Amino acid sequence: MTKDDLIRGLNEDLAAELSTVIRYTYEGSRCFGPFGLPLREMLSRGRLDEIGHAAFLMDVITDLGGEPVTAPRPFGKPADLKEMLELDLRLEEEAAQKYVRRAREAEELMLPELKVRLEEMAADEAGHARELRRVLKGLEAPATAYEPLAECVGHG
Ligand SMILES: [Fe+2]
Ligand SMILES: [Fe+2]
Repeated sequence: MTKDDLIRGLNEDLAAELSTVIRYTYEGSRCFGPFGLPLREMLSRGRLDEIGHAAFLMDVITDLGGEPVTAPRPFGKPADLKEMLELDLRLEEEAAQKYVRRAREAEELMLPELKVRLEEMAADEAGHARELRRVLKGLEAPATAYEPLAECVGHG
């Protein structure tokens, strides 16, 4: 692992972040109806986190002496809501794992601030993935959109 290897990896991460910013913006514009509103809000919150990640990566790549990419990684446009959420979930899980690996690389190169920040980004992506998993659960079995506690029933 050299500094150049790390810069190359961080640039791949940056292209993926830029892609996610655009994908979430695009997907939000395709959400309609009462279920679409909370989805738009979730995508909008996620987008803000990803812009923060992208901005941090641009700074770090520059500070390490590299040239940050400005082109997003291409992404697919799923045919329906379930496919869209599954794609988002898969990419968030990938991103979380990738940042855990990248944090180890930063540690190897004795870059403690970068290591910790990458771990925080891994946690952000894992949180996004968890939120998407909850939405998908409600989508696949609408009855689980609300699960009352059994002991609350009949105690009126
Ligand atoms: Fe991100
Ligand atoms: Fe994310």
